Amino acid sequence: MSVHKEIKRITTHTLLEFKQTGVKISMLTAYDFSMARIIDGGGIDVILVGDSASNVMAGHETTLPITLNEMIYHASSVVRAVNRALVVVDLPFGTYQGNSKLALESAIRIMKESGAHAVKLEGGAEIRESVERILTAGIPVMGHLGLTPQSIYKFGTYTVRAKEEAEATKLMEDALLLEKSGCFALVLEKIPAKLAGEVSKALHIPTIGIGAGGGTDGQVLVSHDMLGITKEFKPRFLRRYLNLYDEVQNAVKQYVDDVKSRNFPNEQEQY
Ligand code: KIV
Repeated sequence: MSVHKEIKRITTHTLLEFKQTGVKISMLTAYDFSMARIIDGGGIDVILVGDSASNVMAGHETTLPITLNEMIYHASSVVRAVNRALVVVDLPFGTYQGNSKLALESAIRIMKESGAHAVKLEGGAEIRESVERILTAGIPVMGHLGLTPQSIYKFGTYTVRAKEEAEATKLMEDALLLEKSGCFALVLEKIPAKLAGEVSKALHIPTIGIGAGGGTDGQVLVSHDMLGITKEFKPRFLRRYLNLYDEVQNAVKQYVDDVKSRNFPNEQEQY
């Protein structure tokens, strides 16, 4: 029997046990009830209600515009579908940076109004106070370092981060600091595989990588990307498991043809 079938409900403690016993952690994003039900049933360990909803659900260019209310809407839809996975929700841009009181209020709203199990924040030393204050309320916090899309206007591009020694050193320091502050896990986005492997070895908490190589304790992808719902986004790290954009569009074309040609509905498809 596979590991995921033996476990009733994934908790932050399960993820730590996975790291200690060398079991890799699987994580995907979901933003709505129907997709979350499919993904949870597929045996995923962690569902991230990512602020990538801003891109793939709402069509914004960046993750910055999505609001706390919108994240709570997506998160509560996901939570209603999930029986096994740990549900982690991104605190959106502007709801935690530079203000730990606001960070705590935002995290409490997410937990109370959506029923999710943990929150995720982007950044290192600069958000330490917010992380620690959220933890005082008993809310588990996942960190996120490397390419942090909420800071895209500071970075200027979505290219690989921490290639230079100074940024790599700062990333390692931030990772250790987030662990010390009490984070239960860390996302490492788009950094060199060697650095991600070193960070993963240095930490007791699990790391979950996206574009960070095979040395992390787990992997995360945006479900719309791995299912091929998005078409133009083709980074090197992305493995597509389906080509749903074309498959769905072909089904739509077939339906349009069937309606126009009076092939649908047939005798059996009516009352
Ligand atoms: O919002 C998101 O989907 C994320 C993942 C890319 C880790 O933060």
